[in-house]
Amino acid sequence: MTDSDYPAILAELHRDHRIFTRIISALEDELQKIRRGESENWKRLADSFEYFEAYSDLVHHPREDIIYRYCRDVCATAIPALQGLELEHAEITGKTAGLKRQLDEIFADGMLNRDSLISEIEGYLTMQKAHMWREETKIFPMLLDTLGKADWAHLLQSRVSAVDPLFDDEARQAYDALYQRIIK
Ligand SMILES: [Fe+2]
Ligand SMILES: [Fe+2]
Repeated sequence: MTDSDYPAILAELHRDHRIFTRIISALEDELQKIRRGESENWKRLADSFEYFEAYSDLVHHPREDIIYRYCRDVCATAIPALQGLELEHAEITGKTAGLKRQLDEIFADGMLNRDSLISEIEGYLTMQKAHMWREETKIFPMLLDTLGKADWAHLLQSRVSAVDPLFDDEARQAYDALYQRIIK
């Protein structure tokens, strides 16, 4: 399925997933290098978590939450498939904040426990990937089957005003620049 087959909001969420996947793969490369003792680019890790915190957790997941809630309201048979997704968003958001704090502390006070931090980040990335995989393979196709044109038009209206009034073009450009730095 190509982006043009998706309604605009879903195409954007799908595009976000591609960006997150590239960031995750850059992080995995970086962690491997750190484990092998080849480099210690903790700034790249900190930048990635800044991206996750500011975009994935504050914009992407809330947008999905609105769609999932709406879908549950208009289609009871979709409820089981959507089970637990908002809780996963909350769990990911909590872990992002905790890991970002630990990464920021490295620059302030040095690192307390390098190996446990690396393992924690790896666990976080595994969770993010499993979550996106579920959305891409099960949830987004189910949304496409369940919601029609009028539903997507309604969601586009409510999403814009409800979730990201502060995430304007300037913010988007700043995070695009951060993304380019991370994947370089
Ligand atoms: Fe999600
Ligand atoms: Fe997502």
